[in-house]
Amino acid sequence: MAVSGLLFIAFVLMHMYGNLKAFSGHDAYNEYAHHLRTFGEPILPYEGLLWILRVGLLAALALHLYSGLTLWHRAGKARTSKYVAKKNLGSSFSSRTMRWGGITLLLFIVWHLLHFTVVKINPAGGETNDPYNLMVDSFQEWWMAILYLVAMAALGLHLHHGTWSALQTLGWTSTAAARTRAKIAGWVVAIVIAGGFALVPLFILFGVID
Ligand code: HEM
Repeated sequence: MAVSGLLFIAFVLMHMYGNLKAFSGHDAYNEYAHHLRTFGEPILPYEGLLWILRVGLLAALALHLYSGLTLWHRAGKARTSKYVAKKNLGSSFSSRTMRWGGITLLLFIVWHLLHFTVVKINPAGGETNDPYNLMVDSFQEWWMAILYLVAMAALGLHLHHGTWSALQTLGWTSTAAARTRAKIAGWVVAIVIAGGFALVPLFILFGVID
């Protein structure tokens, strides 16, 4: 769970950083999207890097889902009777939402791939082969921007607890100082990644990027 999770963190960090190219305008963004496909040519074929990334992400997703479902099953078997009264004293909100948050993110990813990669859904009905215009048209629709912002909130929560949990699994929370560092890491990863992603739909929705 921890290793596949850390791979995802590396991916979303790079993806978020790449998206910020939207602030450099139409041509810079589209050039970046094109560069992703021609990177490594002629050693790699066209879209070679993207396919390596896709296979890696699918393998990480399979591992992450398998470990998550196994943990869910194990937790279910460990307590067969429900609590009569349950108070959450030591657990954080983000730790209690890992399962449903994970399912929300999975649904988001399916929608996201249909939206931007596979079907290319343009709610404004315009050109879909221009990545920058597709993105701007999309987030000018308030419901699409809200949908992404809600998904980014779910991503932030998942990253907040996931980062802490991965560091714990790897044995980096054994002292009080290490636990403090792991907690800070959870906040930083969540705010930088989810916050960075949220900037683009927000700035498009409010007309700063058009
Ligand atoms: C506001 C948030 C996001 C925006 C605006 C965004 C935007 C985009 C765009 C425009 C593409 C297509 C890029 C291209 O064709 O060149 C894309 C692809 C993709 N995004 Fe996102 N993304 C966001 C969040 C996320 C998140 C949180 C994840 C994962 C948890 C994610 C995973 C992916 C994946 C897997 C692809 C497909 C890459 C491929 O196989 O071609 N995205 N995204």
